[in-house]
Amino acid sequence: MKGHGEQAKRVVIVGAGSVGSTFAYTLMNSGLAEDIVLIDVDEEKVEGEVMDLNHGLFFAPPVSIWAGDYSDCAAAHAVVITAGAAQEPGESRLDLTGRNAGICRSILDQVVEQTRDAVIVMVTNPVDVLTYDAIRHSGLPWKQVVGSGTVLDSARFRFLLSDHCQVDPRNVHAYILGEHGDSEVAAWSMTHMAGVPMDRFCALCGECDFQRRRQRMVEQVRDSAYHVIAAKGATYYGISQALLRIVGAVLRDEHSVLTVSTLIHNYLGIEDVCLSIPCVLGRTGVVRQLKVGLSQTEAADLRRSAEKLKDVQDALPD
Ligand SMILES: NC(=O)c1ccc[n+]([C@@H]2O[C@H](COP(=O)([O-])OP(=O)(O)OC[C@H]3O[C@@H](n4cnc5c(N)ncnc54)[C@H](O)[C@@H]3O)[C@@H](O)[C@H]2O)c1
Repeated sequence: MKGHGEQAKRVVIVGAGSVGSTFAYTLMNSGLAEDIVLIDVDEEKVEGEVMDLNHGLFFAPPVSIWAGDYSDCAAAHAVVITAGAAQEPGESRLDLTGRNAGICRSILDQVVEQTRDAVIVMVTNPVDVLTYDAIRHSGLPWKQVVGSGTVLDSARFRFLLSDHCQVDPRNVHAYILGEHGDSEVAAWSMTHMAGVPMDRFCALCGECDFQRRRQRMVEQVRDSAYHVIAAKGATYYGISQALLRIVGAVLRDEHSVLTVSTLIHNYLGIEDVCLSIPCVLGRTGVVRQLKVGLSQTEAADLRRSAEKLKDVQDALPD
């Protein structure tokens, strides 16, 4: 029960496909939200997902879950947008970008009609370009609109490092920056094990020729989604955990450092593009961007990633 004046912590998820409904399940079991609303154009599917989720409520922390509409956004703390179209045979990535931008714009129009206070979390791909488009189209402050960015990629990186070095992933600090996609950048200069910089950790350990394995590991992170999609058609567990971390930081005003996709100005020569860098995340979205120093190679790679994203951004319809 809520006390007088308290507002239930509400998360609206738009798009009840593989990602949206798995995130709803993850969120439901976390106990972080009190209201979870699912919205989808496919009414039968969203009703089915909500029924299935509600049948597990007996085993979960108290939470209300329903198939809603945009009026439910009025009291939302966070709106997570996972709605989108999949690539059709013969359709280019750019065509898909235009189609998904159209879908996300129509969703955002309906969201901002109800609230200009909720933090918007973009998930639909290409996530960096659609985060940029969401900020531009909605007119919301840039700090309030983030993309899931490379939070998932950074988790994949940590998992691989942890597995290779046999160190608990919670003691591995490693970040993937830039595009959530092929031009992403592993920030080796920021990587450390429990405070010990990676190079020093390797020198102390001496059990493998890690320099030679580095590139392979970065490729593994970058190509993870391709492998999972080839094997089972979609990725949804990892991204759902990443979304729980992002939305949890918002709901609990955690000030956690997460590599969300955010609008960049004046960083290493990068201007007016959304990509991932470490950000302090709290109740109102991005509290601070950590414009960290990178090695020369990493900075050059990040600029290349930004240029690639900018080309796609610039091709978006007005
Ligand atoms: N950023 C990441 O790290 C990451 C990870 C995985 C997937 N994704 C992306 O997330 C998106 C969703 O993936 P998925 O596997 O859940 O796809 P999916 O096809 O299973 O689900 C998409 C859902 O969106 C709904 N939808 C379409 N148009 C809509 C509209 N106008 N309003 C409301 N709902 C609408 C569809 O009915 C469908 O249920 C894709 O773009 C995918 O590439 C991003």
